[in-house]
Amino acid sequence: MNPLNHVAIIMDGNGRWGLKNKNSRNAGHKAGLLTVEKIIKSSIKQKIKHLTLYAFSTENWRRPKKEINFLFNLLEQFLINRIDDLHKQNIKLKIIGVKDFSLKLNNLLKLAEKKTSKNKLLQINLALNYGSKFELINAFKLLRKNNDKINEKNLIKYFQTKNIPDPDMLIRTGDTKRLSNFLLWQLAYAEIFFEKKLWPDFNEKDYIKLINKFKKLKRNFGNINE
Ligand code: IPE
Ligand code: IPE
Ligand code: MG
Repeated sequence: MNPLNHVAIIMDGNGRWGLKNKNSRNAGHKAGLLTVEKIIKSSIKQKIKHLTLYAFSTENWRRPKKEINFLFNLLEQFLINRIDDLHKQNIKLKIIGVKDFSLKLNNLLKLAEKKTSKNKLLQINLALNYGSKFELINAFKLLRKNNDKINEKNLIKYFQTKNIPDPDMLIRTGDTKRLSNFLLWQLAYAEIFFEKKLWPDFNEKDYIKLINKFKKLKRNFGNINE
């Protein structure tokens, strides 16, 4: 059985779910937040140490302003209402991506990170305004600026995922098979699961099914495994 330390998720399909069920994409984002809560709970039960959630990509700025505002409003409300409880549950919140939002949201994010920084049970890495290409280019710029030798160890110390182990498994819901600029380097050896269900329909049972599949896989890392 493979040990499972880190699960990364591309939470896709909110918009389609909202249109289908409530005639509004934003209703899908709201419903998606309930799935986030369920998956956090289940990750704790499964003794997972890192849960990385792709919530907003550097490309998502191309969406209509109304949808972007709704998403960030939802996030603000989540932080205001839920951070104390997450903290009590010994959960650490870390943002990966550039904190380039309203002053209010930037501050809420910084406060949430600071408050939970010593927690140990589960680390949630929230990818927000995250793009892997930006992360890589930025890291190379820092390598050059500091005159560092180009090698793996030096490069990854400039990643936004510094100190976070690489994901063991990636799940993308929403019946789409692409990476959408997510953790391109870090997923080099992840086991990838594409799930047909839209994110708001994804539940604990689906999650555990995928985890059990992952645990039974042969992971070779280039070696042979007989
Ligand atoms: C993913 O769901 C959530 C975010 C990008 C914030 P989408 O909003 O991409 O949903 P679909 O893919 O349009 O259904
Ligand atoms: C990826 O989903 C980003 C997040 C889930 C936050 P998208 O729905 O934005 O991806 P594309 O644009 O369809 O590839
Ligand atoms: Mg999508």
